[in-house]
Amino acid sequence: MYNQKLPKGFVTPEKVVCQAEALSSTLRKHFRHFSRKFKREGIDCFRLYDWDAPDIRMVVDWYAGRIVVAEYERLQTGPEYLSQMASVAAGALNVSPDKVYIRRRHTNTARGPRYTKIDSSGKRFEVRELTLRFWVNLSDYLDTGLYSDHRNTRVIIGKLSQGKDFLNLFAYTGTFTCAAAAGGAKSTVTVDRSRTYLDWAKDNLVLNGLWGKQHTLVQSDAITYLHNAYSRGERFTLAFVDPPSFFKDDSARVSFDINLDHPELIRNVLKLMQPGSDLFFSTNHQRFTPRFDDIPAKQIIKLTPKTIPEDYRNRNTHNCWHIKV
Ligand SMILES: C[S@@+](CC[C@H](N)C(=O)[O-])C[C@H]1O[C@@H](n2cnc3c(N)ncnc32)[C@H](O)[C@@H]1O
Repeated sequence: MYNQKLPKGFVTPEKVVCQAEALSSTLRKHFRHFSRKFKREGIDCFRLYDWDAPDIRMVVDWYAGRIVVAEYERLQTGPEYLSQMASVAAGALNVSPDKVYIRRRHTNTARGPRYTKIDSSGKRFEVRELTLRFWVNLSDYLDTGLYSDHRNTRVIIGKLSQGKDFLNLFAYTGTFTCAAAAGGAKSTVTVDRSRTYLDWAKDNLVLNGLWGKQHTLVQSDAITYLHNAYSRGERFTLAFVDPPSFFKDDSARVSFDINLDHPELIRNVLKLMQPGSDLFFSTNHQRFTPRFDDIPAKQIIKLTPKTIPEDYRNRNTHNCWHIKV
């Protein structure tokens, strides 16, 4: 049945059995370690498996009693592999099958649109992250609405926000806007090109009792927004900028490749920043090379891996810098 045409390192049924045992025992160990502690701290969402063994290229995330099981796509596994491993994960964590959500991910983020819709169940539920609440949706999109690897960065932003004018660029579901608003920001501007995510950001603000006229949601290509905001004289004292690795916007005639274009993006954000202000720049590109030589800043401090939460064993899951203006 398995002949030499199979790719080198193919995970045969015998290997699946071994991997299932290893996955199950790691999940149980991590759940024992994290669940009680995170419950005490008010954290409902956390990572239980983070590609811990090189040959089990998966992540398993806990969302308040539900799990998202994702495999980094490769030729070495058969079509049944992901669902087999997902039922192993469900068994190890005592989660019923209707609470298991599976995903296939590309390791190369240039290959597929990351933020597109995959279903339209509209099912969402509320989760806690320390003092904040967020809506998550595990069925309709590749991502869930909450990036927990930035849990600690949200705390940093929250602590710096009192009295600040905050810009959240590439804002997604506005979790950083909530952190800044809860931290006492005077005003916030939340920019994303997706109407769906901006509506979600508003719902998150409402959920936290933070919605008000000091918060502005802007549906725009980020590059176009920066040019227009500069001409209009909009200025900020705190910003969080977390671009996708690549994007293309034909209507605005812009394309962006994080490795090539981040210096120009950061310089354009800095034009909007008041002296003495703080810009946080983050990327989850796994082969990112910073080029900060020509960035006009007082100081640039690399925050990661210190800020990556303990449940993320991939210490390169994102990289984040604090740019002092
Ligand atoms: C990496 S996510 C940001 C994650 C967010 N900072 C968080 O932690 O929740 C990237 C976001 O950028 C948005 N986006 C992609 N291309 C864009 C563009 N050209 N202009 C503005 N937003 C864009 C996507 O819709 C998505 O919401």
